[in-house]
Amino acid sequence: MVERGTAKVGRFVVVEGIDGCGSTTQAKRLVEALRGVGHDARATFEPSDGPVGQLLRSVLEGRLRSADGQSPRRLDWAALGLLFAADRLDHLASFVRPALAEGAIVVSDRYTLSSIVYQSVTAPAVPDAVSWIASLNRAAQIPDLTIVLDVPVAVAARRRHARGGPEELFDALSTQARLADAYARAVELAPEQHIRHVSGEGDAGDVTRRLLQVLSDAFPEISVTPERS
Ligand code: TMP
Repeated sequence: MVERGTAKVGRFVVVEGIDGCGSTTQAKRLVEALRGVGHDARATFEPSDGPVGQLLRSVLEGRLRSADGQSPRRLDWAALGLLFAADRLDHLASFVRPALAEGAIVVSDRYTLSSIVYQSVTAPAVPDAVSWIASLNRAAQIPDLTIVLDVPVAVAARRRHARGGPEELFDALSTQARLADAYARAVELAPEQHIRHVSGEGDAGDVTRRLLQVLSDAFPEISVTPERS
């Protein structure tokens, strides 16, 4: 919880980047670090664990089957964009907004910037893909801060291989390179968001410290050091 005067102020922070950038690890570490200094911080993620999010995971992992029961059932970029937006609104209503109303710092592993980047990059030469995806997400509240973890495509690929698990929909190196280019232009693609880039390279503890620094720069009322007794 963030105290400003006597009022509790919720803060909504998002961690973003290409696959293997460390957003899942760092969103969790950030919440642990904030809890460690006495804040009510809560970790969450998208696709969420709600009904639409579970459907999305089954598509991303190739588990959703076609009518023949054999081949994976694919969805095109626009259908995915609609489902991600629906999952987001459900996630906001079921988790994010109630937590913010209680004054928590909510840290989400991915949010609207993922839709803007991933779905536009995978849209086949559709000129207004970015604005269409932005319009789908107009009812989704704008985060207070969106942090993009910048990691070279080769480093992120090594991390994904080290992690193991099945190949996912967007894992091709050529796709990841285009996603990295789009994340580099995040401020231009999502001008309504408060975006900061942070290097995601190196030791996980160092990356967390960089994130805490960015957070305390953005929100001076959020203390990131233990209170002295
Ligand atoms: P994860 O691997 O970080 O759990 O995310 C799942 C994948 O879904 C990842 O490749 C990014 C992708 N994604 C989108 O394409 N659009 C979105 O809106 C979101 C939230 C994720």
